[in-house]
Amino acid sequence: MIRLLGIETSCDETAVAIVRDGRHVESNVIASQTDLHARYGGVVPEQASRAHLRAILPTLSEALAQASLGWQQIDGIAVTFGPGLAGALLVGLNVAKGLAFALRKPLVGVNHLEGHVYANWLDVPAAEEPTFPLVALIVSGGHTDLVLAEAPMAYRRLGRTRDDAAGEAFDKTARLLGLGFPGGPAIERAAASGDPTRFPFPRAWLGEDSWDVSFSGLKTAVRNQVAALGVDPDHAAPDERRERLPLADLAASFQAAVIDVLATKAARAAHTFGASRLALGGGVAANRSLLRRVEALAQLPVACPPPRLCTDNAAMIAAAGYVHFSSGRRDRLDLDVQPGLPIAPLESAAT
Ligand code: KG4
Ligand code: ZN
Repeated sequence: MIRLLGIETSCDETAVAIVRDGRHVESNVIASQTDLHARYGGVVPEQASRAHLRAILPTLSEALAQASLGWQQIDGIAVTFGPGLAGALLVGLNVAKGLAFALRKPLVGVNHLEGHVYANWLDVPAAEEPTFPLVALIVSGGHTDLVLAEAPMAYRRLGRTRDDAAGEAFDKTARLLGLGFPGGPAIERAAASGDPTRFPFPRAWLGEDSWDVSFSGLKTAVRNQVAALGVDPDHAAPDERRERLPLADLAASFQAAVIDVLATKAARAAHTFGASRLALGGGVAANRSLLRRVEALAQLPVACPPPRLCTDNAAMIAAAGYVHFSSGRRDRLDLDVQPGLPIAPLESAAT
């Protein structure tokens, strides 16, 4: 039995978790900074770092207390070292190093994106665990990657977004519609009662053989539609937007355009590369309409964590850390943050 402590501070959640054998969550504590950043309409990096500093030690104590464990029962520390905001990553990494040094426990640095993939192993019955080869669609606030994992830790990045990440597109569109931050959940709620066919927004397919996606044309189309409906996209106050725009239909039409492209490409990649499983991860995977559409298009089992494990958490970092840890990897205490770390280099050829 291996019990890892996971630490995640790459963006705006300070998170600590304890996970047994990469699968069983013993505690999963998340201190969210949403309220802090909501008033700016997005994450302010320096504020995020300082909020991590304030929250990290209480979050650590809470994670141990919830699991009723002491330090000596922890076998190693798994920590996000990239990608993410440099100053935010530094807080978690340095706390992890301090713990590893003081407790003489091994340290394993984890790629945050790999964490989103491994959230699919948490608390699922053994018979339902994802299998390889696996196609993963990672859709978060900062990333949109379509990845082929032929085996654990062996990734090929097939495609990515050429401009905004999927979550970023949700957040920007929410702001345009006068909905709050973070935008994804607000759009999903508004879309629930809307007509997704009312506004035929563009889908950027980028050619038959491309695994990339792009959301900038869609963003412009929603903006132009807002203007055509008589609301100034640059200057209108949020409550004016909410009062004067057909929010449900706009949100549903936007969401359908994003989901159409993501679900179609993910399902096609799974088929093309002979995957045995399609796995979703990242904050946008919390969107149940995305999951339903992927399930409808894919001719294979689809794994998706429950919404609370799609958005940033440290249990997924401990789960991914476990795979590295059990293959013998140990990192040195001079491990540095890597803000731009990809899950794998981008492949130029489509297939
Ligand atoms: O993975 P995550 O928590 O943080 C990053 O690693 O970026 O993803 C956050 C993103 C935000 O852009 C948020 O708006 C989006 O995920 N998101 C959603 C939903 N819940 C969160 N997008 C669409 N539908 C949702 N239900
Ligand atoms: Zn994330």
